[in-house]
This record gives sequence, C-alpha cells and structure tokens, in this order.
Amino acid sequence: MEAVGVGIIGAGGIAAAHAKAYQMLGLKAQVIGVADIDEERARAFAQRYNIPIWSSEDEDILKRDDIQVVSLCLPHHLHAPIALAALQAGKHVLVEKPLAISLEEADAMIRAAQKAKRNLSVVLQLRFESDVQRARLILERGLIGKPFYAEVSCLWWRRPLYYENTWRGKWATEGGGAVINQATHHIDLVLYLLGMPKRVYAEIDTIAHRIEVEDWCLATLYWDELKASFCAATCAELETDVSRLLVLGTQGSLQMFPFRPYSRQEERHLEIAEACRTIPEQELPGHTAQIHDFVFSVLEKREPRVSAMDGRRALELVTAIYQSAFTQEVVELPLSTDSPCYTTAGKLEMARRYTAAHQAKRNS
Ligand SMILES: NC(=O)c1ccc[n+]([C@@H]2O[C@H](COP(=O)([O-])OP(=O)(O)OC[C@H]3O[C@@H](n4cnc5c(N)ncnc54)[C@H](O)[C@@H]3O)[C@@H](O)[C@H]2O)c1
Repeated sequence: MEAVGVGIIGAGGIAAAHAKAYQMLGLKAQVIGVADIDEERARAFAQRYNIPIWSSEDEDILKRDDIQVVSLCLPHHLHAPIALAALQAGKHVLVEKPLAISLEEADAMIRAAQKAKRNLSVVLQLRFESDVQRARLILERGLIGKPFYAEVSCLWWRRPLYYENTWRGKWATEGGGAVINQATHHIDLVLYLLGMPKRVYAEIDTIAHRIEVEDWCLATLYWDELKASFCAATCAELETDVSRLLVLGTQGSLQMFPFRPYSRQEERHLEIAEACRTIPEQELPGHTAQIHDFVFSVLEKREPRVSAMDGRRALELVTAIYQSAFTQEVVELPLSTDSPCYTTAGKLEMARRYTAAHQAKRNS
C-alpha cells in the first residue's frame, strides 16, 4: 500500500487536529469521509477541510473499501463500540484518549484488533515530544540516580460551559472527570518514565462544577523505593493551565514543563547534556507526529509507536485511582478481571454509590 484513505468519525473539537495532520501527509493520506451524528456539523467540517464525503451515519464511513484508517474523535463511552465496529469492518483504528472507559472494553478492543490483524492505537501525544524522549533517556541511563520521589500535577481550568456538552461531566459517558480526561496524558507520562506503580491511594472531589464526576483528585502512587504525589484538577482557576512533573533522584532531579534536568555533580551534568543532545528537536507537535506515525505504521506494516496496550496501562492506573477513591482503600496493581471496577457496569455502579453517598454527606 502506498497511500491510505482516511475516515474521521466525530467532527467536534479535536477532529480538526486529525484532519490537518492527515492533510499534511500529502499523497500518503487522503481524508475521504467524515461522519458525525450531527449531520450539519459533518457537512461544515467536510467543507472546511475539503473532504468529499460526509454523513450522519458512521456506517457510511465503515463500509467504504477506499478507507483503510479511521480516527475516532468521539465521546469516551463510544470509543469501544465504534472501534469494535471499525475493526470488524477491517479498518486500522486510531482512537482519541482514553482508550475506553473500562478495562473490560479495552480488552475487547485489543482482542478484536488482534483477530482482525489491524493496528489499534490511542492518542497519547506527549510521548512524541523531544523533551519527554530526553527525560526517558536520562532515567533509563540512571543519570539522576535512583528516583525516590515524584510530583505530577495537571492543574487545568475548565469553564462550566465545557461541561454543558451532553457527554461530559457524567460517569456513564465521560467515564470520570479530570483524571480520565485531562490527566490521562500525565498518567501516561508517569508510566512512560517511571513504570507502573504497585499501589495507589486516591481521593476525589467535585469542588467547582455542578457535575457528577470529579474535578479534583489527589493520589499517592507507590513503587518499591519511589513514591509520587499526583494531583488532577479542572477546578483550578489559574491564569494558564499548569502541568508539572518533578522527579527527585539520589544524584539529581528532573523537571518537565519546562524541561530542566539537573545534577550538582559536574560530570553527571555533562552526561545529561550529552544524552539530551542525542535526541533531535521534534519538528511537529506531538499530536501531529503521532497521527503521522500511525499512518506510516499502516503503510510499513509495523506496530505504531503507541500501542493499544499503552492505552490500556494508562486506563489501568486511572481505574485503580477511581477504585481507591470509591472504596477509600489502597488498591494494588495490576488490577485483575475480578476487580470491582474492571467492567463498565461494575465501575458505573461503584461510581453511582460513591456519588450518592458523597452527595448525602454534602447535604447533611
Ligand atoms: N489528545 C488530546 O489532546 C485531546 C484534546 C481534546 C479532546 N480529546 C479527546 O477527543 C475526543 C473527542 O473530544 P472533543 O473535545 O472533540 O469532543 P466534542 O464533543 O467536541 O466532539 C465529539 C463529536 O462526536 C460526535 N458524535 C457523538 N456521537 C456520535 C456518533 N455515534 N457517531 C458520530 N459522531 C458522534 C458529536 O456530535 C461531536 O461532534 C475525546 O476522547 C477527548 O478526550 C483529546
């Protein structure tokens, strides 16, 4: 295959980034169709990006033989069912984050991709940033010694209007709030740089919005010798969104956003600088770079740089955070298929009970 035909399903906020990224690939990718349940939105999107076909039916994209790749830019609860339909129709699927709203759904998607022998990936674009690559290399080479403490924060502000969109703010459709939606990126960064923690303890709250899901979370993540504090918020009225990642090691430290690796020892400092120089500056924004990698993974018949398993791992940590917040107990990782939040139904039932109890406490 020398070029791919692309379909975009969901023509809301993030879809534009997908259309533009595909169009930058010139002859390698042609966006052939777009579907949105809101036909007028699909039509306007098609006109804006010069896309020949638009429809209010996803099936009109999935049934086409000239489309091999689909981007799913949809509400979270639709990621799994529409990815399953797309894989069954023989498409390679790039789904926006999070992979799904439960591990049960994620596992069904991964199985379907294996069965169909198609690529399945999830957008986790921070991995494509040069500084993230540099941070990973520094940690892999042990250049700041053994990490013993980390701080990870996603302190973002989302206006009440943001939650007026029908699917956001609800457990059944968004699958959670600040943690699964905004901080998924930060959680993935933790996993990419530090690996999966062994235990987690978390609290969630809803502070500034009239929504079911959390707009605040504070968690502690535990490895063997490393502990991290994690905070996710969409209730933080800051002048600009703040993302933080700080890792303290026995021989130095590493900060992201902006990237500042440091060691007091001159030799190590030089080694860090040398390691950083081996990673070239990424020319494209992470989101675009990931979409391009996905297209080339299909053309070159290889795995994409971000696998569905990477998305599953991020979702596993997200799920453990929610389970801990619902039960007010420490949760051990990995989560088994018997974990109460593994299934969508189990997670939603726990969320329902938690929200009702929380509401009752607030009203008393
Ligand atoms: N990677 C990132 O940095 C990033 C940034 C923003 C959003 N996102 C993700 O992108 C996804 C979409 O978010 P958004 O902000 O664009 O949401 P949005 O609400 O703006 O867009 C979703 C679109 O899906 C459409 N839709 C709903 N049901 C449909 C169906 N059955 N078939 C076809 N279309 C349907 C809606 O009409 C809407 O146009 C989410 O997963 C979100 O988390 C990722």
